[in-house]
Amino acid sequence: MNQIRNFAIIAHVDHGKSTLADRLLEMTGTIDKNKHDEQMLDRNPISRERGITIKLAPVRMEYTSFCHAELFSASDNKIPKRVGDEKSEYILNLIDTPGHVDFSYEVDRTLACVEGAVLLVDATQGIQAQTISNIYKALDKNLVIIPVVNKIDMPNAEVEKTINALSDFLGVDPDEVIQISAKTGQNVEKVLSTIIEKIPPPPALPDFVQSDDLLKALIFDSYFDTHKGVIAFVRIFEGQAKKGMKMKLAIGNRIFESTEVGIFTPDLISQTSISEGEIGYIVTNLKDIRDVRVGDSIIDQGKNVGVAGYKKVNPVVFASLFPTDTADYERLMKALEKIYLTDSALEFKPLYSQALGAGYRVGFLGLLHADVIRERLEREYDLSLVLTPPQVDYQIEGDQIKEPIVKVLIITPQEYLGGVMRLCEDHRATFKHMDNKNQVSIEYEMPLAEMISDFFDQLKSVTSGYASFDWEMLRYDVVDASRLLLLLNGDEIEEFSQIVVHERAQKIAIHLTKSMKDLIPRQQFEVKIQAQYKGKIIASERLSPFRKDVLTKGGKTVGGGDVSRKKKVLEKQKEGKKKMKMIGKVEVPKEVFTKLFNK
Ligand code: GTP
Repeated sequence: MNQIRNFAIIAHVDHGKSTLADRLLEMTGTIDKNKHDEQMLDRNPISRERGITIKLAPVRMEYTSFCHAELFSASDNKIPKRVGDEKSEYILNLIDTPGHVDFSYEVDRTLACVEGAVLLVDATQGIQAQTISNIYKALDKNLVIIPVVNKIDMPNAEVEKTINALSDFLGVDPDEVIQISAKTGQNVEKVLSTIIEKIPPPPALPDFVQSDDLLKALIFDSYFDTHKGVIAFVRIFEGQAKKGMKMKLAIGNRIFESTEVGIFTPDLISQTSISEGEIGYIVTNLKDIRDVRVGDSIIDQGKNVGVAGYKKVNPVVFASLFPTDTADYERLMKALEKIYLTDSALEFKPLYSQALGAGYRVGFLGLLHADVIRERLEREYDLSLVLTPPQVDYQIEGDQIKEPIVKVLIITPQEYLGGVMRLCEDHRATFKHMDNKNQVSIEYEMPLAEMISDFFDQLKSVTSGYASFDWEMLRYDVVDASRLLLLLNGDEIEEFSQIVVHERAQKIAIHLTKSMKDLIPRQQFEVKIQAQYKGKIIASERLSPFRKDVLTKGGKTVGGGDVSRKKKVLEKQKEGKKKMKMIGKVEVPKEVFTKLFNK
């Protein structure tokens, strides 16, 4: 076990984790340089296209290190005499982690399973918001951190400055910061040797503990395989997992017999057993992914207590999802169930809307997560969808409404500080803390509802794209909010009614009523479009009547004798009605919903 090193690579988005992982895989001969696609560990096609890692993939590498053993000769002059190369073989288990803010819980999972982390910082960008939050996460878990500056081959790389910032932040000597180009491979060998030298092997159980029948393994990921059932990705903390062994889920409290155990190369390679300190997989033979929860432990049948896991991730933003064609509901259900098998952070439950038919209320980890899921549904499952704007989850307790509050960390160059602070204040944020070095790092507490509005886009625009950003959930706070109802001639359109905080109500009400007026066609009677908040109408529009007779065209009546023509027109009108929804007496075309939601 002394030969095992378990580590992760942590970095801000795009700083080069996947590229460095590829180089490590090649240098250890795990993959053939000429035979693999770029970014081996990014297997999700959308993840590849968007250039961001969404799903982590663990991999085991074998590495032989030749350390030049030099001994002093017996002679008095003490000239070192080389006696030969000493060969040591190591097993390196790497878990690549995603860099985007929405997926930071994946970083948490990874860090619970390793003893050290390579901290990668792009020399053209410097320390960014996620670099800092990841450092804190790693320090919190007492991991050894190996600081590495990447992209030193780029002409605009500020190598010295980045090294100094890192050494300052971590309190280490600048010489300890390794300078590499993950792209060209320059100096990457040094990263490998430092991992072996500095990251400790997994802690061993004392000798007197008989570990043969023991098992304690932490599940850090799982997926469903149609042939094998649920496969759990684990870090073994105690004992060993063997094929054919009876095992138990500590929290799920289910007993199963493992049909296979193995390691990642990154393909799944079966082994007779995997032992203490190792990272590998256990085929559970269970059929329901919901039984095998990330954070639960797999233990031997006779025991009850698992590894102290990490917190379950809960979705933070919610949206309703409908198939554009109501006949596609079944296909949508099947697709969501399939995606859930590889993404257990997704939550969904059925829902019915008067206007849009049967659909789902879906919970996501953030806006990017919502976007990725929608894209997967449309692309991989060929569905056309209506997704309502994501909303936060308000807690309603009696007559009090509580809203989720998040902590945000923003790092920005000095010159944009004023703009960033103004933007935060406009988003109901409370200033907490500021650190002012080369770049300014500012911490705010902010309602999640504000963060998921237009905050990202505006932050990008006030800082010309130079700021970086990270966030985490904090708590729920009481807020002055109520339901804003959208009414058509007094009848509520449920789909557009939402909980809104007092100070945003007016603006949203005006936007909704105006857009609605532009989108719905005139009817044969006047339509009042109103927004009602706390029992009062706070915005209203009027749509004047329009007598539409389909049998007249361009002012002329369609020829009286042409019955078949008349029939055709009337049929067409009938067809058209199918695409309408009645809100009270008002006909609303379905596209209005799609258009207003997609605005
Ligand atoms: P996420 O997967 O989104 O977290 O990003 P990542 O950190 O894995 O970054 P990735 O490896 O995808 O690299 C981002 C971009 O930087 C890619 O276009 C790489 O080719 C490029 N890149 C990575 N390392 C280097 C380097 O050392 N030099 C240069 N010039 N480009 C690099």
